[in-house]
Amino acid sequence: MYTYEELKNFVDHCPRCPLSGTRNHSVMGKGSLDARMMFIAEAPGYNEDRDGVPFTGPSGTVFDELLAEIGLRRQDIYLTNIVKCHPPKNRDPLPEEQEACIAYLKYETLLIRPQIMVCLGRIAAQRIIRPDYRITREHGTFLFRKNTWLTAVYHPSAILRDPAKLEEAKEDFRKIQEKYREL
Ligand code: URA
Ligand code: SF4
Repeated sequence: MYTYEELKNFVDHCPRCPLSGTRNHSVMGKGSLDARMMFIAEAPGYNEDRDGVPFTGPSGTVFDELLAEIGLRRQDIYLTNIVKCHPPKNRDPLPEEQEACIAYLKYETLLIRPQIMVCLGRIAAQRIIRPDYRITREHGTFLFRKNTWLTAVYHPSAILRDPAKLEEAKEDFRKIQEKYREL
């Protein structure tokens, strides 16, 4: 088992997939190592590649707003991505990039041991919950697996593209808050 600092160091210098050749910064997850809740998005965007930190761009503002709805801040949770390096032109991370990177997420999960894992968007939900997960139909529902509650909500960038999704996301966050309180 590695320490968190060792893991971050691996990610910072990781050569395991071709995204290592185009990234400016790897983006290790960030937040409380004692967090009871982990949020998992898909891959760093342009801003995150520049800054080396998850969700520093406009989708981060939406994410912070949703967190604030349920009285939490970034330092109360842990926030990470399936893939730690930015895919050029913001394309979806390829299955082989996800496969190469997923070990880091497994280590993050082992170190943090969250009670609730919230997937942000389809890519994370299909990787973590089920390959045929339908985010439009299933967002906001919970399942219990390996001692952890799993759910998914719309990705903040989907909300930016379609602001009508904001209310649904707030409703999902209220369900997440209920679960968080009862555990
Ligand atoms: N979008 C993501 O999926 N992850 C980030 O960290 C930023 C934007
Ligand atoms: Fe390594 Fe993941 Fe970055 Fe690929 S995306 S180089 S596997 S850290």
